[in-house]
Amino acid sequence: MCGIVGYTGFREAESILVEGLRRLEYRGYDSAGVVTQTGPTLHIRKKAGRIANLASMLLDTPSPGTIGISHTRWATHGGVTDTNAHPHLGGHDSSIAVVHNGVIDNYMSLKAQLKELGYVFRSETDTEVVAHLIAHHYEGDLVAAIRKVIPLLKGTYGLAVVSKRDPGLIVGARLGSPLVLGIGEGEVFLASDPSALLGYTSRVVYLTDGQLCTLTPESYRIFDRDESPVEINIEEIDWKPEDADKGAFPHYMLKEIYEQPDSLQAAMRGRLDFEAMTAHFGGLNLDPQKLRQVERVILTACGTSYNSGLVGEYLFEEFARLPVEVEYASELRYRNPPVDRNTIVIAITQSGETADTLAAMRESKRMGHPALAICNVVGSTIAREADGGVYLHAGPEIGVASTKAFTSQVAVLTMLAILFGRMRHMSFTAGERVINELKQLPDQVRRALQCHDRVKEVAAKYAHARNMLYLGRQFLYPVALEGALKLKEISYIHAEGYPAAEMKHGPIALVDKETPSVFLMPRGAVFDKVMSNLEEIKARGGPVIAIASENDDDVAHRADDVIYVPDVPECLQPIVVAIPLQLLAYEIALLRGCDVDKPRNLAKSVTVE
Ligand code: G6P
Repeated sequence: MCGIVGYTGFREAESILVEGLRRLEYRGYDSAGVVTQTGPTLHIRKKAGRIANLASMLLDTPSPGTIGISHTRWATHGGVTDTNAHPHLGGHDSSIAVVHNGVIDNYMSLKAQLKELGYVFRSETDTEVVAHLIAHHYEGDLVAAIRKVIPLLKGTYGLAVVSKRDPGLIVGARLGSPLVLGIGEGEVFLASDPSALLGYTSRVVYLTDGQLCTLTPESYRIFDRDESPVEINIEEIDWKPEDADKGAFPHYMLKEIYEQPDSLQAAMRGRLDFEAMTAHFGGLNLDPQKLRQVERVILTACGTSYNSGLVGEYLFEEFARLPVEVEYASELRYRNPPVDRNTIVIAITQSGETADTLAAMRESKRMGHPALAICNVVGSTIAREADGGVYLHAGPEIGVASTKAFTSQVAVLTMLAILFGRMRHMSFTAGERVINELKQLPDQVRRALQCHDRVKEVAAKYAHARNMLYLGRQFLYPVALEGALKLKEISYIHAEGYPAAEMKHGPIALVDKETPSVFLMPRGAVFDKVMSNLEEIKARGGPVIAIASENDDDVAHRADDVIYVPDVPECLQPIVVAIPLQLLAYEIALLRGCDVDKPRNLAKSVTVE
């Protein structure tokens, strides 16, 4: 949520800053801005709307200099306007420029104090107080000024600051919002996410909360809260620039949907144990005795990751007979649940930066519970702060609507459930069955993708709908939630996911001939029950789209439209059934002219509460 890029070196900064912002645009796309510096002059350009607007403004009025900072905004305080776009200038002589990711909770009282001191505010943002405060405390040393300001701020921030009087210097600071340094030869980068650095450098240093950094072309330093210098630990990122390209696909979302056979393969690589018929993971950091002692699991997450957690609940119960609670991280962080000694908390997150998930994990750790993370972004805050965990290895996910991360999360949860299960009641034969089926999964997903043409036909028929229901039972109830979430995120059609039988207790009132229901009903234990639910909808004139097992003629006779998926065991149906639902949302959104990769009001990495 909000992206920051900074550069100081020997090249013209502007194109690096804008290119970096393009890579971070999924973090927010309400407005964008850059400030570069030549000697004591700050060149500031900012514009409401997408980065493309800023880029065309820069064509007319370039921003010279080999140092600069830039920002792409997801609006929190103040509307989407040119004036509210970052950078913000501070001081009576506009000598300080600041970009900020996060929220300054006490900005109102700080603003009142600064106004009394005669500072003039141009924007409605919380960030502008930071710029003025730094200017107010500046006595010839930018770092010293920022150190005086930091204790005054309540809230969260990733900050980058430049000053007219300190040419060549960028200062960054983080509390709650990520920042990473990129190390080049004679040049140093700053970003809120390493993907901005792809193609420039693969050598990165992550900042932790409370740290401050200084960057000049020749040097970079990091300081702790107590101002002591931190020993630098350079890490290599292994994403390639082409991982973050759309390639031949028109949208990132479609590319990422089609990557799923490979991303699932990557999630399972080296983790399936065909001798012991279990799964193993290198980074859990819990020895088998500790794992065996676990008596309760809390899965916590937001958005799509929460939906994968709900699938995990079914899997853990089924395979490991372990009680599982799935909790929205935004709720868990403020709850006071009675938790026993042998409870582990597993945070599920694609980005590893979601503010609520991070806070929930920290709170659980504070209470003394081992906290694991299932995470995609290597080096992200949650990945680093967790006691142990599992990476998805899905590669960068850039489309705002999550697709490949969901299926990889479910695959990892399946393997974890097998691991816990095989330590408890799950037999060798039961383990063998699922492990062998998991091995086939990438191929089954490849086959599931062949439904795309059929999905296009179905999408054309229903793209005008104003409401849609997604109904499934057992393992597929969470997938109904996920299907509905995908549709509403990118097509703005109101959609609700429900357990198929539960729709009788409310949503059925919505059913009419304009309201299609998507039934998730491949063959399985509850197939007949779901078929009855389908009849109940048909009896009320509601159109039905069914996702069914290949060659299921019964479903074809009853539903208005059928999309077939390969037959897999019930525990793996969530992954295979997710594919047509992702494609359906994508195709409907396209037909409605929506911006599939950047849906309105959303951002990929939600780093504010
Ligand atoms: C945002 C994104 C969703 C994502 C959710 C949780 O809302 O738009 O796609 O599922 O955050 O993100 P995380 O990175 O923690 O999985």
